[in-house]
Amino acid sequence: MGIITLRPALESDSTSLAELNGQLGYSASPAVVRERLLRILAREEDCLRVAILEDGRMAGWIHAQLSQWLESDFRAEIGGLVVDTTLRRRGVGTHLVAAVADWARSRGAVELSVRCQIHRTEAHAFYAAQGFQRTKSQHVFRRRLSE
Ligand SMILES: CC(C)(COP(=O)(O)OP(=O)(O)OC[C@H]1O[C@@H](n2cnc3c(N)ncnc32)[C@H](O)[C@@H]1OP(=O)(O)O)[C@@H](O)C(=O)NCCC(=O)NCCS
Repeated sequence: MGIITLRPALESDSTSLAELNGQLGYSASPAVVRERLLRILAREEDCLRVAILEDGRMAGWIHAQLSQWLESDFRAEIGGLVVDTTLRRRGVGTHLVAAVADWARSRGAVELSVRCQIHRTEAHAFYAAQGFQRTKSQHVFRRRLSE
C-alpha cells in the first residue's frame, strides 16, 4: 500500500464512495450517492473525509456529524466508516477516526460517538482499540414519511 492522504470528499468522488458504500452493506448507485454527497457537502455540521492511496485509489471514507441534543454534551457522531476490504488492518481506519476527532475538537465538540450494528464484531474491536467504550445497545425505529 502506498502512502495515504486524507482529504475532504469532493463531488467527483461519488463513484468511489458508492463502491465502498456497497462494502459497508448499503448499496446505492453513484447517482444516488452523488445526490446525498451534494447535500452533505453543503452542510457546515458534516465532515466527510476520504483516504486516498498514492495511485489515486480510494482506501476508505468516514462521515461524521455534529449533534447537540438537550440531554447530551455537544458531540460529533460517526455515521459511516468503511475501509476497502483489501486494505484493512493497515491503520487506515485509525487515521480516518483521528481526522474526524481533530475536526470535531476544532468545532468545540467534547465527545465522539458511533452507533454500530450488533453483528459488526470486527468494528466493535476496532472502536475499542480507538478508545471508545460501549455505553448502551438500542433498537432503531424508522418510518417512511408519506407525501
Ligand atoms: C472497522 C474498519 C473501518 C477498521 O478499519 P481498518 O483500517 O482495518 O482498521 P485499523 O487497521 O486502523 O485497525 C486498528 C486496530 O483496530 C483493531 N481491529 C481492526 N480491525 C479488527 C478486526 N477485524 N478484528 C479485531 N480487531 C480489529 C485492531 O486492534 C487494529 O490494530 P492492529 O491491526 O495493530 O491489531 C474496517 O474493518 C471496515 O471497514 N469494516 C467494515 C465496515 C464497518 O464495520 N464499519 C463500521 C461501521 S460503524
